[in-house]
Amino acid sequence: MNDQIDRVSRRLFLKATLAAAALPLLPAGARAAAEVITKPIPSSGKRLPVIGMGTSRTFDVRLDGEQRGALSEVLQAFFDQGGTLIDSSPMYGAAEQVIGELLKTTRRSALFAATKVWIDGRQAGIEQMENSRALWGIPRFDLMQIHNLRDWQVHIETLKAWKTQGKIRYIGITTSHGREHDELERALKKERFDFVQLTYNLEEREAEKQLLPLAAERGVAVLVNRPFQRGGLFGKVQGKPLPEWAKEFDCASWGQFFLKFAVSHPAVTCAIPATSKVKHMLDNMGAGQGRLPEATMRERMIGYIAGL
Ligand SMILES: NC(=O)c1ccc[n+]([C@@H]2O[C@H](COP(=O)([O-])OP(=O)(O)OC[C@H]3O[C@@H](n4cnc5c(N)ncnc54)[C@H](OP(=O)(O)O)[C@@H]3O)[C@@H](O)[C@H]2O)c1
Repeated sequence: MNDQIDRVSRRLFLKATLAAAALPLLPAGARAAAEVITKPIPSSGKRLPVIGMGTSRTFDVRLDGEQRGALSEVLQAFFDQGGTLIDSSPMYGAAEQVIGELLKTTRRSALFAATKVWIDGRQAGIEQMENSRALWGIPRFDLMQIHNLRDWQVHIETLKAWKTQGKIRYIGITTSHGREHDELERALKKERFDFVQLTYNLEEREAEKQLLPLAAERGVAVLVNRPFQRGGLFGKVQGKPLPEWAKEFDCASWGQFFLKFAVSHPAVTCAIPATSKVKHMLDNMGAGQGRLPEATMRERMIGYIAGL
C-alpha cells in the first residue's frame, strides 16, 4: 500500500507554487502542513491529494454577506492545506454558481475541477456541461462525470469526443448509497472510464465486493463520496473516545478515522467529504497527512465500528 503513496513535502510544494509567477499567492497565514499524501490517477500517472472536497448541500446556499464570508473561509482553508479536487453537480442547486463566485476571490496553487452531467439527451447534456463551465468560470473541467449513470450510453459518446478534443481531461461515472452496482460494473467493463465515484465508508462497504477490485484491475481512479455516510457515522461514535491505537496511523479525530479508512483502500484515489465549517475542513485535511492504516489495522477499524 505504502508504495502507492507519495508524501510530498509541503514545503517544496509551497516553494514550487510561489515560483509560478502567474498563479495567485498563498496567504502568509497559511498553516505549513507537513506533508500531503497523494495517489496517482492510473490513466495518466498524475497525482492527486487523497482528500478533496464535496459541495452537495454545503455549497447550495444563497451567497449573502455572512454566508459568503463563511464559505469563502472554508474554501480558502481547503486550498491552503494543499487541497485541489472539488466535486460538484448541476444536481446541487446553487453549488456550482457559489463555487464560481468564491473561486474569484480565493487564492490557490492548483484546482482540479470535477462536475457532472445530470440530464437526459445528447444536446441537453452538452448545454448543461457548457452552463456548468460558465458557472465555475473556468476554461475547462478536469473531470466530467455522468451523474448516477443517467443516460450514460448517450453522454459517454460526447465525453469521449470532448476528451479527444481537449475540452475535458478525464471521463467519469458516479453512483452512491451502494445503488446500481451491477449496471456500473457493466459500464466500467464496456467503456474506458478514467474515474468512478461511489460511496465507501465504514458502514457502507458494498463496493469492496466487485467495484473496487474491478476499478483496480481496469486502472480506473476511484473517488469516494459520502465518506461520513452523509454525517451519519458521527452519530454512531457520539460520546465515544477515539481508541488509543488510532495514534498508530496519525489519527486525531473521528473525522480522520473515517477518512483514513476510506483512502487507505488500495483501489481508492481520493475521498470528497463536504463541510460548511473551517474547523471541520482543517480536521478533514489532516486526514491527508501522516500515516495511513495498513490491512491489519483496517480490519481492526472495521471490527471496532461494527461492535458499537
Ligand atoms: N451520486 C453522486 O455522484 C454523489 C452522491 C452523494 C455525494 N456525492 C458527492 O460526495 C460529497 C460528500 O458526500 P455528502 O456531502 O453526501 O456526505 P459526507 O461528506 O459523508 O458528510 C457530510 C456531513 O458531514 C459533516 N462533516 C464534515 N466534516 C466533518 C468533521 N470533520 N467533523 C464532523 N462533521 C463533519 C458535515 O457537516 P458540517 O457542514 O457541519 O461540517 C456534513 O453534514 C458530496 O458533497 C458530493 O460532492 C456524490
